[in-house]
Amino acid sequence: MSNHLSDRIQNMSTSATLAMAAKARELRNEGKDIIGLSLGEPDFNIPDFIKEAAKQAIDDNYSSYTPVDGYAELKQAISLKFKRDNGLDYGPNQIVVSSGAKQSLFNIAMVVLNPGDEVILPAPYWVSYSDIVKLAEGVPVEVKTDIDTDFKMTPAQLEAAITPNTRMIWFSSPCNPSGSVYSKAELEGLAEVLKKHPNIYVVSDEIYEHINFAGGHVSIAGIDGMYDRTVTVNGVSKAFAMTGWRIGYIGGPEWIAKGCTKLQGQVTSGANAIAQRAVITALEAPVSKIQYMIDEFHKRRDLVLGLLGEIEGFNLNVPEGAFYVFPDISAFFGKTLNGTTINNASDFALYLLEHANVATVTGEAFGNPNCIRISYAASEKELKEAIARIKAVV
Ligand SMILES: Cc1ncc(COP(=O)(O)O)c(C=O)c1O
Repeated sequence: MSNHLSDRIQNMSTSATLAMAAKARELRNEGKDIIGLSLGEPDFNIPDFIKEAAKQAIDDNYSSYTPVDGYAELKQAISLKFKRDNGLDYGPNQIVVSSGAKQSLFNIAMVVLNPGDEVILPAPYWVSYSDIVKLAEGVPVEVKTDIDTDFKMTPAQLEAAITPNTRMIWFSSPCNPSGSVYSKAELEGLAEVLKKHPNIYVVSDEIYEHINFAGGHVSIAGIDGMYDRTVTVNGVSKAFAMTGWRIGYIGGPEWIAKGCTKLQGQVTSGANAIAQRAVITALEAPVSKIQYMIDEFHKRRDLVLGLLGEIEGFNLNVPEGAFYVFPDISAFFGKTLNGTTINNASDFALYLLEHANVATVTGEAFGNPNCIRISYAASEKELKEAIARIKAVV
């Protein structure tokens, strides 16, 4: 029997964040009191006004297959949202609704990349980028950044990474895992480099757009010369606490939107009907409706930075968005703590799980082996307890 998995799947890594969550669940089942700070999932309930819209959609019998690229009313709401929040003009033929931003990203890779095409990933990058690119037979090219530049890629680094095979650049701002936010000037610097390379496209993942404590989210598609060569990716998982509803979307060049629709038509068809109806209501609402969650994340960020800052060996910057801190913990490498030698970030994350009962994620999964990612999408009480435990074991 040749019951082996395809090379494609064998060569793919398992999502490290999901793997850590599974390990934490296993320990919990053994009776351990694990505090989970590994997942990128808001701990809020979905706002009631969105729930009501979903209930109404059920009563209104939205139960048939949906248009492959999304309901026209949802695409209209997305178009207005792009205009209102980002100053971007995307018409209905430039918008595709998918089952989560993750599917949007997968679609783009499959639609744009040919085997061997290089995709520049400023590291740290979101855990799935690299494997999605590889699945589409592209070649991820990591550009290492560190805490001294707030984990942001400089124009000089971008320039140095470009080769004749470069097809795309993928990045998130606010960034998962670093929480970094690119300013307008920084994006203009990157756009200046790209002017010399007209065949390179940009994927701008803006799913954390609203969770921005510095204010003033900037979309690279709005920078001079970038509109025609940028795909803006967004979704409702983070800002609206709707991770399980699985709705993401893109705005971008029509030929890419067309390709994504064609692919989706053969793979998943249109996204869930009830969720799409609910998202119309979510996106039409003013951002002030979700401000309470953003304020809470802001408060927790300050709390976590303050408490972690008291621990020797944790080198921190100030993340301006998302809900993660990404401390450089390389000061622990080569040390032995409670009989465990720490050689890298994976050892350190495992050590915290086993000795402090706190689940974090190794930075190696995000292309940075000196850091760990701590999600502060948890209650203040849990955060205080988790950091006290970490302090006690390091
Ligand atoms: C940067 C980034 N992009 C995309 C996604 C995927 O979001 P969705 O739940 O819409 O698939 C996530 C989720 O963790 C993320 O952090």
